[in-house]
Amino acid sequence: MRANSNFDRLEQSYLFSTVARKVAAFKQANPDVTVIKMGIGDVTQPLAPSIITALSQATKEMSQADTFRGYCDDAEGYEFLRAAVTDHYARLGADLGLDEVFISDGAKSDLGNILDIIESGSKILIPDPVYPAYVDTNVMNGNTILYSKGTIENGFAPLPDDSVDVDVVYICSPNNPTGAVYTAEGLAAWVAYALEHNALIIFDSAYEAFIREPGLPHTIYEIEGAEKCAIEISSFSKRAGFTGVRCGFTVVPRNLEVCESNLNAFWRRRQNTKFNGVPYIVQRAAQAALSETGRKETAEQVDTYLRNAQIIGDAFDSMGIAYTGGRNAPYIWARCPKGMCSWDFFDLMLEKAHCVATPGVGFGSAGEGFVRFSAFGRTDDCKTAMERIQQMLEEEELI
Ligand code: MLT
Repeated sequence: MRANSNFDRLEQSYLFSTVARKVAAFKQANPDVTVIKMGIGDVTQPLAPSIITALSQATKEMSQADTFRGYCDDAEGYEFLRAAVTDHYARLGADLGLDEVFISDGAKSDLGNILDIIESGSKILIPDPVYPAYVDTNVMNGNTILYSKGTIENGFAPLPDDSVDVDVVYICSPNNPTGAVYTAEGLAAWVAYALEHNALIIFDSAYEAFIREPGLPHTIYEIEGAEKCAIEISSFSKRAGFTGVRCGFTVVPRNLEVCESNLNAFWRRRQNTKFNGVPYIVQRAAQAALSETGRKETAEQVDTYLRNAQIIGDAFDSMGIAYTGGRNAPYIWARCPKGMCSWDFFDLMLEKAHCVATPGVGFGSAGEGFVRFSAFGRTDDCKTAMERIQQMLEEEELI
């Protein structure tokens, strides 16, 4: 037997596990200290009332023989949820059919699973900095990775370089970790690139619900031609607090062809073989999240996180710390003071301010010198954290 030697090329540990381990060690050594976590983007508000009602009704159905459900006939998800997702896209101005929507147990799983329908050894273009799961899953698959660099100059929204030829392009907008959001012109440039180079776009829209500025695209399918070159992967985690419930959706357009292979048919085949679907009660909860009441309740939750982002951003403004994001995204991407490197600043914040952010370099080498703050915490904690950080920066003469 031979193990997958691609694993030898991975970083020793996944970014968020390394951060969690460091925080656990600090807490063990300092049990009386209260650590405020603004590291991983995990939600803190409870599920909205309409979602809880749907969950408990579905649970009741499961308790009675005549309404009990076993396997879902379609691994791609119950029709009631796929219809709710196509209605959601219709509100965003994209016309999708039920056969183009696949319900998943979250965006992270499908961002990795999708590689099953892409030939191993493909050339993949990944933004740097970016969500580390893109890189890790492609390393595991033996693909060749090229990077498109996000910088302050390009607003962390790099545009295509026509001289570079790749098979697959990943785009995350609103971006994790920088909070940057592509304009329609920026996405149109990527769609034109993909059509010209016969490349596939994998568009991660997990943070779509945070876009509040009018005119910014919420889905790649707002861009003409995207249905011929793009798969979109999204999630209920951040829009409706499902990080612990697990549900997402993947859109593979009906006529998406690569070298005469139909990717919708390939993905359906893959799902039917490897996936038995998301639990019925979870799909009912997701349907409730997209109902009129659910949308109102969850938008209020997103508003709270955006207000937290504003608190963090305002505090950095008053300290003279440069940052991006936080306006249409739950992440604030801040420059470390006085040219410090990401992990040194992480350690200093943990030890002196008892606050956790994610070191920017963990999202790629272009993230060195930055840290990412998540706005998914409780508002009081955000305020306290920023006071502590300001005090620490003053004491250390870093501002
Ligand atoms: C993050 O902090 O980047 C995300 O919460 C991680 C995830 O969604 O898996």
